[in-house]
Amino acid sequence: MKNIRVLVNGAKGRMGQEVVKAVTAAADLEIVDQTDLGDDLIARIKASQAQAVVDFTTAAVAFENTRKILEAGVHPVVGTSGLLAEQVAELQQMAKDKDIGGLIAPNFAIGAVLLMKYAQDAAKYLPDVEVIELHHNRKADAPSGTAVKTAQLIAEARQEIPKALVEEKELFEGARGSEVHGVRVHSLRLPGLVAHQEVIFGGTGETLTIRHDSIHRESFMPGVCLACRKVIGTQQLFYGLEHLL
Ligand SMILES: NC(=O)c1ccc[n+]([C@@H]2O[C@H](COP(=O)([O-])OP(=O)(O)OC[C@H]3O[C@@H](n4cnc5c(N)ncnc54)[C@H](O)[C@@H]3O)[C@@H](O)[C@H]2O)c1
Repeated sequence: MKNIRVLVNGAKGRMGQEVVKAVTAAADLEIVDQTDLGDDLIARIKASQAQAVVDFTTAAVAFENTRKILEAGVHPVVGTSGLLAEQVAELQQMAKDKDIGGLIAPNFAIGAVLLMKYAQDAAKYLPDVEVIELHHNRKADAPSGTAVKTAQLIAEARQEIPKALVEEKELFEGARGSEVHGVRVHSLRLPGLVAHQEVIFGGTGETLTIRHDSIHRESFMPGVCLACRKVIGTQQLFYGLEHLL
């Protein structure tokens, strides 16, 4: 069987380096090029004859990079966070027009995907919920893509939006976090952390906490490798790893 040809964009970054290691170690995947800031992505995709491009760069360029990957006619596997819902929709339309499948995943860790699934289920029964996401202090964007997606899934699942019992007043701006799809999200940034999330539900005399911890960037690699294999056979740009599991 021929190996799947993978180009890694953002290859000098923390995630990019981990992807290069994981793809190199996978028997059925092959690194055909590594690019980073300043490289001509479209030209390098064409020259390397890559079939899939893994992108872990920065929020500011995530949309443009994904557009370039689609323009070059290959399958994107995008882990970069910070894409807005309307940008994802635009990229999905572009992929549809070009008949190219791919994946944009706010989180490639299987445990995080399960956390989102369980949170969506719990929200049907416990609509009072807030999200705390915790990341290393070099993460530029907030809230995390995982938190935004979790909030969106909760908003879709819950039957009612709980009403505030008092008129809240923030004595310091941001004390109550940000409101994402009607769900409060709180972002912590500290050295020592990798990527973590708690979803806390409140009920009558009880709380339920669902927590996921990525304690090493390796946690994302089985998902990235799986996506490289699966996108080759798809004609749709999916949002969320769960669609390829
Ligand atoms: N989806 C997931 O599971 C997941 C997991 C962890 C991190 N992330 C996200 O992945 C992204 C990268 O994280 P990181 O910790 O590796 O960051 P990083 O800063 O270590 O690496 C980013 C790399 O991208 C490069 N870069 C910047 N602009 C570029 C461009 N226009 N073209 C090519 N390369 C460019 C930088 O030079 C750098 O090498 C972030 O958005 C982060 O939030 C996603």
